[in-house]
Amino acid sequence: MNADPPLPPYAPGRVPLIGHAAPLVKDRLAFLQGLREHGPIVRITIGPKTVTVINSPALLQEMLTTKSNHFSKGLLFEKLKLFGKDALPVAEGSRHLTRRRLMQPAFHHQQVDQYLGTMYSTVDPMITAWQGMGPLDLKTEMQLMTQNVVMAALFSTTPDRDTGHAILKSVDTLFAAALRRALLPLPLLERLPTPGNRRARRASRVMRTAVGEVIANHLANPDAHDDIVSLLLHAHGPDGTPLTDEDILSEVTGLLAAGSETTAVTLTWLFHELAHNPDVERQLHNEVDTVLTDEPLTTQTLTQLTLTRRLVNESLRMYSPAWLVTRRTTEPVRLGDTELPAGQDIVWSPYTLHRDPALYPDPLRFDPDRWLPERPQPPREAFIPFGSGKRQCMGNEFALAEASLITALIASRWRLRPVPGPAVRPVGAITLHPSALRMTAEARTPVGHHQGAI
Ligand code: HEM
Repeated sequence: MNADPPLPPYAPGRVPLIGHAAPLVKDRLAFLQGLREHGPIVRITIGPKTVTVINSPALLQEMLTTKSNHFSKGLLFEKLKLFGKDALPVAEGSRHLTRRRLMQPAFHHQQVDQYLGTMYSTVDPMITAWQGMGPLDLKTEMQLMTQNVVMAALFSTTPDRDTGHAILKSVDTLFAAALRRALLPLPLLERLPTPGNRRARRASRVMRTAVGEVIANHLANPDAHDDIVSLLLHAHGPDGTPLTDEDILSEVTGLLAAGSETTAVTLTWLFHELAHNPDVERQLHNEVDTVLTDEPLTTQTLTQLTLTRRLVNESLRMYSPAWLVTRRTTEPVRLGDTELPAGQDIVWSPYTLHRDPALYPDPLRFDPDRWLPERPQPPREAFIPFGSGKRQCMGNEFALAEASLITALIASRWRLRPVPGPAVRPVGAITLHPSALRMTAEARTPVGHHQGAI
C-alpha cells in the first residue's frame, strides 16, 4: 500500500493561539535563521495561518525551477502590487512570460555593457558632490545614486536631487505599506483611511506623477530615445493591440522599485564592512588605482576589478537584499519527501541560506576571498541572491555591473569612515538594510595613477 507523503513537520516552540508569532515579532531575522536547525522544510504558524519555510538548497531549486509551474509569487508580491497592478515582478502565468520576453532584451549582457558609459556619467557628479557635504546618510546617498542609474540607463531621464528624494521617499513608504500588509493581511484594514494608508496613497500619486512625466516626455519626443520606455510604448500585446497607459506606467514603476533599493543596500553594506576591514580596503585601493585609467571604462575594465567583484559577491552573500521571498502553491505539489496542499503560503530566505554554516565555513565572517576561484566554492544552488528559475531577477547583470562600477569609483576617490554611533544592525524590511549608517567621505589620492574617466 502506498502511503501519502507526509506534510512538513511543525517547527518546535508553537504556543496555543499565536503559534510562532512571538519570536517572529521579536526578531524576524534571528527566528528565520534558527528555523534552519529544524530541517530542510518546516511549518510555522502565525495565529491561524500556517506558513511553510523552505531551508534546503535542493528543495528551493525544485520549487523555483522544475516545479515552478505549481507556485504563484505569494503574499509579499501580492502586496507589492501597490506599485503597479501587473508589473513584471508581480505578474503571473502567460502575462508574466510575454512581458518578460518583451523586456528581457534591455537586460542582455551586451546591452548592459552599453549602459556602462551612462552609469559612469550618472554616478561621477554625484560622488564628486560629496566634497564638503559633511556626514552622509549612506543608504540615502546610495539609493539616490542607484535610482538615478536606473532612470538614466533605462528611461533616459535624470531627476534633480529634490525629485529624486521625492521618488525615493515614495518607494520607501510603499515598501513599508506592502510589508505591513503582508505581515498582517487584513484586507478590510487596507481600505480604511488610516494614516498609513493615506501616506501610501499619497506616495503612489507621487510615483505615478514622476513616472507619468517620463512617459509623457517620451511621447512628446518619440524619436529621441532608444530605451525600455520606448520599447514598451512601441510594444503590442498578443492580440496586436498596444499596451495600455496603465500597463506602461506599471512596468516602469515596477522596474524603478525592483532596481534601486536592492543595489543601494548592497553597496551600503559593502562600505560598512570595508570600513571595518582595513586590509581589504587597502587591497581595494591598490586594485582601483591600478585598473582605473584615463581610458573609457568598459566591460574589460570591470573584469579586471576582481577584488571589487568579490566584495560585491560577499556583500550579496552576507546581506542578501531580498532577504524574504514568498510563494504560494496553486495546486497540491510534492516537494522532496513532503506534500504541500494547494493554497499553502511559503517563504524562503536568501539571507539565512547564505549564512548557513553547513554551506559556508565561518559564515558570519566578511571574507571576499572566499570567492577566489582556487577556494572550494559553495554549490551553485546555495548562492542565489537573485533567486533562480523563471522568476530569477531580470536585472542581475545590470546590478552586478552597476555595483562594481560604483564601488570602484567611490574607492578611487574617497575613504568612507563611520561616524561614531550605535552599533549597526541588519533590519529586515522589504530589503535588508542597516539600522542607520552615517559615514564621512575623506578624500584620497590615488597612488601613481589618474582616476578612470569616460
Ligand atoms: C543587488 C541587486 C538586486 C537583487 C539582490 C535583486 C533580487 C531579486 C530577486 C531575489 C528577485 C526574484 C524574486 C522571486 O524569485 O520571487 C528579483 C526579481 C526581479 N528583479 Fe531584481 N534584484 C536586484 C536588482 C535589480 C535591478 C537593478 C533590476 C532592474 C533594473 C531588477 C529587476 C527585477 C525584475 C524586473 C524582477 C522580476 C523578474 C520576474 O519576475 O520575471 N532587479 N530581483
